[in-house]
Amino acid sequence: MKLCILGGGGFRVPLVYGALLRDTHERRVTEVALYDVSVDRLTAIGQVLDQMGREYEKPPVVRTTTDVDEALRDATFVFSAIRVGGLQGRTADERVALDLGLLGQETTGPGGLAYGLRTVPVALQVAERVAALCPRAWVINFTNPAGMITEAMQQVLGDRVVGICDSPIGLSRRAARALDLHPDLTTADYVGLNHLGWLRRLSFDGADVLPSLVADADALATIEEGRLFGADWIAALGCIPNEYLYYYYFTRDAVASIKGSPATRGEFLLRQQRDFYNAVAKEPSKALAEWRRVREERDATYMAESRAETDPGRDKEDIAGGGYEGVALALMAAISRGERTAMILNVRNGSAVPGLAPEAVVEVPCTVDANGPHPLATSPLAGDQLGLVQQVKAAEQLTIEAARSGSASVALTAFAVHPLVDSVSTAKVLLSGYRNRIPEVAAVLRSR
Ligand code: G6P
Ligand code: MN
Repeated sequence: MKLCILGGGGFRVPLVYGALLRDTHERRVTEVALYDVSVDRLTAIGQVLDQMGREYEKPPVVRTTTDVDEALRDATFVFSAIRVGGLQGRTADERVALDLGLLGQETTGPGGLAYGLRTVPVALQVAERVAALCPRAWVINFTNPAGMITEAMQQVLGDRVVGICDSPIGLSRRAARALDLHPDLTTADYVGLNHLGWLRRLSFDGADVLPSLVADADALATIEEGRLFGADWIAALGCIPNEYLYYYYFTRDAVASIKGSPATRGEFLLRQQRDFYNAVAKEPSKALAEWRRVREERDATYMAESRAETDPGRDKEDIAGGGYEGVALALMAAISRGERTAMILNVRNGSAVPGLAPEAVVEVPCTVDANGPHPLATSPLAGDQLGLVQQVKAAEQLTIEAARSGSASVALTAFAVHPLVDSVSTAKVLLSGYRNRIPEVAAVLRSR
């Protein structure tokens, strides 16, 4: 079974390979094709994987290539984890917005739209190549903004594109553990868009146990979301928001703390990753050791802008919960082995979430079997939730349209209708800032 990883030189690829190495099932991935635009990054990650594989008996064979067709040919699964414009682009996504006093973040707010705008055309090209070379493959998309990119790729490939994220399962598992329940024995009712959803119920033994967590400040203090949002706000909502909703519920606080930090997340990672790839080029024999060291540093600082100095960061247990590579592997296993599994995934809405169009990609509980994911019907979102989801989805869909047509005026509308952009005149300054600072954004917008 061949797995193609687009963005194969990316820093998180060893996480995926680690999960493949630990998989002992007879129907498992035996061949991995890493595709990337950068030979240096491919070489470095290839070395990390090679060193990881030495600790195992029959590691999946790894090939690296800068030819996307070669990587895709005959693949059973395609993972897409690309970053158009690189981390350099991410820092511009953040700074252009922050300079205007708006949220500057990788996936949420205007930064996410700028990121999506330049990524959609590349994702569409990839989808066309998949259709030509491996039309029966399943595409597992973790390229952010994952909801928007999944929706764009579905316009070419239909339901064979599935978007994934580690945050909904991470939240559900943390909530279960805070109640001293084994996460595997609970079922989550989690609904929304990618990075914009709410855990509304947690079933255990036929009963909803979430209300007891929502009312328990001490238990909430043990999980990331409890510390982020505070027990009072969670009690007021009556459910637990995804951590990314911090950027909506505490916009000013988030902007102030990001602006007050010495570096944005993108700037921190840009420096860290430059150092990593340089270090590996200098001393290839230490590639794996260096990767492990940098990864620890990275996990310890995740979402640092929204946490107190004393907060330990993403705890070990959360990462042990599977991370995004765990979600990807679980999805592949369910499809390739036909083992029915429940997962929270980004899929075509159909009629799962009332109030959203059928073609809108939403993040909802699904059952997965050999035929892929099947979204479960959900109960309606509350008015404030649905309003936010609809408005953000409209901004995403306008961004896709702008990327497809090259229309700057549609792109402007996308920025202007986003709930985190407070004025049409600001949207204009934003858009010209992104066009000036990011060549890949400028290249996409060819017409007025
Ligand atoms: C989580 C999100 C991803 C996001 C990542 C950012 O895992 O689910 O969608 O890309 O965090 O992490 P980073 O270390 O790049 O800031
Ligand atoms: Mn995510």
